[in-house]
Amino acid sequence: MSRIHEALKKAEQERAASQGGSAQPEYSAVEVATAPVMPGAKASELDAGTEHPANGRVPFNAAMPSLASPFNVDALMARSIQQSWIPDEKIMLFFNEDDKVRGTEEFRTLRSRLYALRDKAPLKKILVTSALPKEGKSFTSANLAQVLARQHGRRVLLIDADLRNPRLHMMLGTTATPGLADYLQGGTDEFSIMQRGPMENLFLIPSGQELSNPAELVGSGRLKLLLQRIEPLFDWIIVDSPPSVPVSDASVLAKGCDGVLMVVRSNSTPIDMARRARQEFPDEMLVGVVLNGTNSEVMPYTRYYYDQDHSSATEPRS
Ligand SMILES: Nc1ncnc2c1ncn2[C@@H]1O[C@H](COP(=O)(O)OP(=O)(O)OP(=O)(O)O)[C@@H](O)[C@H]1O
Ligand SMILES: [Mg+2]
Repeated sequence: MSRIHEALKKAEQERAASQGGSAQPEYSAVEVATAPVMPGAKASELDAGTEHPANGRVPFNAAMPSLASPFNVDALMARSIQQSWIPDEKIMLFFNEDDKVRGTEEFRTLRSRLYALRDKAPLKKILVTSALPKEGKSFTSANLAQVLARQHGRRVLLIDADLRNPRLHMMLGTTATPGLADYLQGGTDEFSIMQRGPMENLFLIPSGQELSNPAELVGSGRLKLLLQRIEPLFDWIIVDSPPSVPVSDASVLAKGCDGVLMVVRSNSTPIDMARRARQEFPDEMLVGVVLNGTNSEVMPYTRYYYDQDHSSATEPRS
């Protein structure tokens, strides 16, 4: 049985066990993921390095496009918008000065798994989605982006591509405009929609102004172009998306990404819905499942499952 199948089964069991039980608390305890680290992972890519503090200044790393390209680091720093974010520290775990806040260790584990996968296949642009609303996509996207940016010299872009129900700007305590929707409509350029806040190396493209036709714009091809242009400037690009069962945006967005991370909310996501969501994406794109929000004090509140190799599906993953 694949680990992803195991994760879905586990979520279903927890949901069944909770039916008729007490309400799910906001937080419960955490547990380190059980999935093995990929064999043969390059030590240089694994996250053995130290983290810098949330507000620390860290130099950019050297392997960047030359100044001849309009998409270079100098342009990024000069033209992106410095903002005073006021993150919600209860859910934006890495803005808290306390490095041992509950949940942070699980995001570090997720980071290690992604580096291990990246040694096997190209993996930079990750779409975060789930079957249904309110399963923790934005929570996972934002904290994953933070834990990646906390490493020295790693530059990370977080994109709010949920144009139907954007939340990242609220979680990070900043403005939603200008943002992705404005760019997709042709109203602005790449750098003018990028914000940077107090965490060095973490950049945000918020959702932008509200739209009446998000599906058309997301499918227009302009988003893929945006990703291609700015990709060389970042080590990781994390894309938050709408739920994939009710609307098609996530499967369209996935076409511009290298991998898909599926969030399953424990005690909540029906297994048939999780399976349906999973079928929206090609096997080779699914890099893992995040089991979010378990409700016992001794269980994780966020837990991760990965396949051995997202570039070759060797066992059924339904
Ligand atoms: N593990 C968690 N611990 C505590 N709070 C969480 C956790 N996961 C999600 N939440 C909270 O649950 C709510 C829903 O989470 P979130 O907004 O991330 O879900 P979503 O899947 O992005 O929803 P939508 O489909 O509406 O975009 C938010 O208030 C978020 O802060
Ligand atoms: Mg969301």
